[in-house]
Amino acid sequence: MVHLKLQFLIVLIVLENFTFAGPQKIHLSVYYESKCPDSKLFILNQLLPAFHLLHDYLKLSLIPFGKARSINYGDGGFECQHGSAECLGNIVQDCSLHQMKGQSDKKKLAYVVCEMHTEAASQGRFDCVERSNLSTEHVEKCVTSGEGIVLQLESEYYTGLVNPKFVPTVTINGEFNQEIQDYAQVDLIGTLCSLLIDSQPCGRYYNYIALNNLMNTSPRNTH
Ligand SMILES: *[C@@H]1O[C@H](CO)[C@@H](O)[C@H](O)[C@H]1NC(C)=O
Repeated sequence: MVHLKLQFLIVLIVLENFTFAGPQKIHLSVYYESKCPDSKLFILNQLLPAFHLLHDYLKLSLIPFGKARSINYGDGGFECQHGSAECLGNIVQDCSLHQMKGQSDKKKLAYVVCEMHTEAASQGRFDCVERSNLSTEHVEKCVTSGEGIVLQLESEYYTGLVNPKFVPTVTINGEFNQEIQDYAQVDLIGTLCSLLIDSQPCGRYYNYIALNNLMNTSPRNTH
């Protein structure tokens, strides 16, 4: 009887580990800046479609800091690559993302896409904060109190560990790799799919591309 129970328990543990855990996720971190044209292009043209295709396989971290730096541990504010508007954009995004802590990566990315697309926060507007149903009051308070500065100092710390030469920079499972970095800028889906070879969406994506190429090179379409 004891033996049976033990077997049952083992079966349960095995099932829990292999059947219900879902696919293994890649942790993708994106280090970017609010007014950086390359960050904007990457987030809108690479990250958004890649997340749309592969959201079941991704865990996202979005870190709005880039090549900024704190002055006197934040007491003197921050200096940003694209000026003070960028610093404002970075701190608003950090505060909003912090307020979205318990929410899905999908919602966080939708918020950041809105900010990068409209540049609202860096112009001192809360359009995207409102569109994400966040409390503008809380975000504003975070920005103007010390809380936002602490969040930006944290982002500075984590960005410093990667020490990006180029913004945006990506890491996979916390690791920087120059080849992955370069490939991700032009084909993030291809980059992630090279790590998720057997996943269904990658298979379907490549079948679709192959089919498209076949159609485009068929005799009917050549004139
Ligand atoms: C914000 O709230 C409205 C009304 O409840 C809802 O329709 C909308 O989907 C929400 N938007 C987001 C991004 O959560």
